Amino acid sequence: MVVPRPVSSVAASGAPFVLTAGARISIAGAGADAVARLLRDGLSADGAPELEIVREPPAFGDVAVVVADHEGPEDHRAEGYVLEVTAEGVRIGAATEAGAFWGVQTLRQLARPGAGESAGAPGIAPVRIVDHPRFGYRGALLDVARHFFTPAEVRRFIDGIALLKVNHLHLHLTDDQGWRLEILSRPRLTEIGGSTGCDGSRGGFFSQQEFRDLVAYAAERHITIVPEIDLPGHTTAALASYPELNPDGVPPAVYTGREVGFSTLLTGHAPTERFLHDVITEVAALTPGPFLHIGGDECLSTSPEDFDAFVADTTRIVAATGKIPVGWHEIGRAPGLAPGTVGQYWDFRVPRGHAADRAQAFVRGGGRVIMSPADAAYLDIVYEEGDTIGQDWTGGPTDLGTAYRWDPARIVPGLDDAHILGVEAALWTETVPTIEDAEEMTYPRLAAVAEIGWSAVPPASRPIEEARDLNEFAARLAALAEHWDVLGTRYRRVEGVPWPEPAA
Ligand code: ACM
Repeated sequence: MVVPRPVSSVAASGAPFVLTAGARISIAGAGADAVARLLRDGLSADGAPELEIVREPPAFGDVAVVVADHEGPEDHRAEGYVLEVTAEGVRIGAATEAGAFWGVQTLRQLARPGAGESAGAPGIAPVRIVDHPRFGYRGALLDVARHFFTPAEVRRFIDGIALLKVNHLHLHLTDDQGWRLEILSRPRLTEIGGSTGCDGSRGGFFSQQEFRDLVAYAAERHITIVPEIDLPGHTTAALASYPELNPDGVPPAVYTGREVGFSTLLTGHAPTERFLHDVITEVAALTPGPFLHIGGDECLSTSPEDFDAFVADTTRIVAATGKIPVGWHEIGRAPGLAPGTVGQYWDFRVPRGHAADRAQAFVRGGGRVIMSPADAAYLDIVYEEGDTIGQDWTGGPTDLGTAYRWDPARIVPGLDDAHILGVEAALWTETVPTIEDAEEMTYPRLAAVAEIGWSAVPPASRPIEEARDLNEFAARLAALAEHWDVLGTRYRRVEGVPWPEPAA
């Protein structure tokens, strides 16, 4: 009962493993310490006793974590793991810390909340799981620009996505309504541009130290932060902060509405060039991960010629910092993108207009594509008609089945697993004011997208509606929800899932 479904899970015979208060975490290999601490903390957050960590061979009833070259599934060393459960103990073996950490998430889900608390606690049936991800990029986007979320709230979000083996957190840091990352050479961006948010909500921003701390917190959990500075549109917060970025030198007022597509930076304008260099240099320096996202979506106020020149230039500035530029699929139209630029597809499961061609362009340029079909993987779309939080522009609600029954390799002709970096679910926050609301929009749908990114490719011969068995998924979700209940994670109790009884 694990989400995402493991590649291979073979039940064995014998008595179940019972996690007792005296159990220890036995570690071996470099890096096992850090994973063991996260296992101890994860299990205790899930309601189990706090286990002692020892660097010695396991005794009866212990949980062993072994990180060593020859461990883990061959050919899937980067993130794979093997987890064995018998009455004698549990053993997680992996070639890397990341693999062991994902094994830990599986163990947390196998251990029912409260395991070990009392003699009657449920055990874990004997099993051997051999597991690895389908894609190296499994992402969640959190829009901190429209509504700001504090570092503590972002850490809570990171904890939640880690349980689902999501390994990239895309932070949408800037938009018309807010600039959320301190740029030392451009203090007015956060002073003015960061002062408010959608619907006049609280402003706020991450200092560079806070951002570094978030990057480190995520990295401990094997999650890479992908910073996005959305350009050249979605830039009112920047235009309001620095008058010289505007054609007439007159800044617009800060913006707190929900419209898109009305702002743009100027192409071929010396103050814009200096601004791009200043901002991108600082963001790259704050980012140990490989990716820097430059947005490029919905530039309805930028002429096509200016747009092409702008995004070509900007991807090259990013590449010069040593980062891989990423942009929304619209930038695929520009002839001069830096080689290897990654695209993020956000059109529908059936591409409209030029969307497929734009996505294919990244592959022609030596890059790959992240799949975020808006009508399945956008977490801000309403679950059902009449919801008070959420948007509805994709032509209908995104219920759980819609979020689950699609495949990234069945969207854009010619783009298969070799061209697809992975999948990402996106939580835009125009209508989402609090972290509790954010969680309710995210769960359970992120679990569906995480499974699409991690679990084995569905057989090509089967229609996707059949290959993704919603009832089977729902049963595993219900088990996961017992953890959400203990952790205090909000989720939407959508129909069709045998959710646990709400706590009294
Ligand atoms: C987007 O939804 N504008 C990327």
